[in-house]
Amino acid sequence: MQTIEFEQPFHVFSASDVRTALPMEESVKAMKAAYQELSAGGATVPLRTHIALQQHAADVLVMSCYSPRLKQVGLKIITLHERNVDVGLPYIQATVMVVDAERGTPLALMSGAVLTAIRTGGGAGAATDVLARSNATRVALFGSGTQAATQLEAMCTVRPIRHAVVFDVDHSRAGRFAERMEAELRIEVAVAATPAAALAEADIVCTATTAREPVFDDRDVAPGTHINAIGVYKPHEREIPGATVARARVVVDERSAAWQEAGELVLARREGLISESHVHAEIGEILAGVKPGRQADEEITLFKSVGVANQDLAAAHVVLERGARLGLGAEVGL
Ligand SMILES: NC(=O)c1ccc[n+]([C@@H]2O[C@H](COP(=O)([O-])OP(=O)(O)OC[C@H]3O[C@@H](n4cnc5c(N)ncnc54)[C@H](O)[C@@H]3O)[C@@H](O)[C@H]2O)c1
Repeated sequence: MQTIEFEQPFHVFSASDVRTALPMEESVKAMKAAYQELSAGGATVPLRTHIALQQHAADVLVMSCYSPRLKQVGLKIITLHERNVDVGLPYIQATVMVVDAERGTPLALMSGAVLTAIRTGGGAGAATDVLARSNATRVALFGSGTQAATQLEAMCTVRPIRHAVVFDVDHSRAGRFAERMEAELRIEVAVAATPAAALAEADIVCTATTAREPVFDDRDVAPGTHINAIGVYKPHEREIPGATVARARVVVDERSAAWQEAGELVLARREGLISESHVHAEIGEILAGVKPGRQADEEITLFKSVGVANQDLAAAHVVLERGARLGLGAEVGL
């Protein structure tokens, strides 16, 4: 009789292992491949499970997927605790597991908070690469938290960014962020006093906030701007005004998830500003050349990301491959 007590090598990667194994250029590359696989119908990505932890002012999201291309199954448990900031803990914490699809063998477990930030940056980078004007050099960031940092890093990876401005309702946090990012990325990073000041002269805008209402006024968005909207994932919340959604060429990560979770779309449709056909494409269709991207310099393009599970698996796949090659992580018998 076959024993069930067999041990196979299993890798565990810490946050710093993930950071080392997943540079932003690799993340952008992995996200381009993941988005294309998703839009071509290659990956199985069920809508994520959402559990509200009301008494803790928190949410848990359980995200799973299967990628035939990578021959792996991915699972992420991500928690979002609003009150963590009061005790100096991150808003988002997560764990990602990778399983071999052919034999069902668990392969790795890794810290998912850094992975989420780098893959979300990589996703916006992939979108920006095909949607922003090629001469874009100036970025406006809304939010100065974990995601904002990797958004800016990604923008610097796909465009020769020279100047960034950041607006956050928490001005002192924005100040610390600007100092840190200037040193890390060696570009100019200034703090904007108002949303309008942040948008003035921005070629690319990244919204990465925990806001529930639009973070800027539509009239301050100049023609030709590309916007990555990566915050909020609930149908009754939004970062981008309906009027901006209505006048933009809108691209999403995944249509059905976006119509379930993106308040930007759901609320604009409810207000009669857009219909379902307003969504021009999934980003994977543009990356694959099936649909066109930006059509004119003066067009406003908007990439709305709610985040999809095969992004996590694609990033975890890179961590496992490169991490093992670089001798990172710990190998344990499971
Ligand atoms: N699309 C994705 O795949 C994806 C992945 C991870 C996180 N997210 C989302 O990204 C957002 C940011 O996450 P985080 O980990 O950086 O959180 P965080 O708490 O570290 O940072 C959020 C920042 O937003 C600021 N903020 C709130 N309201 C604002 C407003 N009106 N204008 C400007 N700034 C404002 C807060 O002061 C805070 O500094 C969250 O909504 C999260 O759900 C999306």
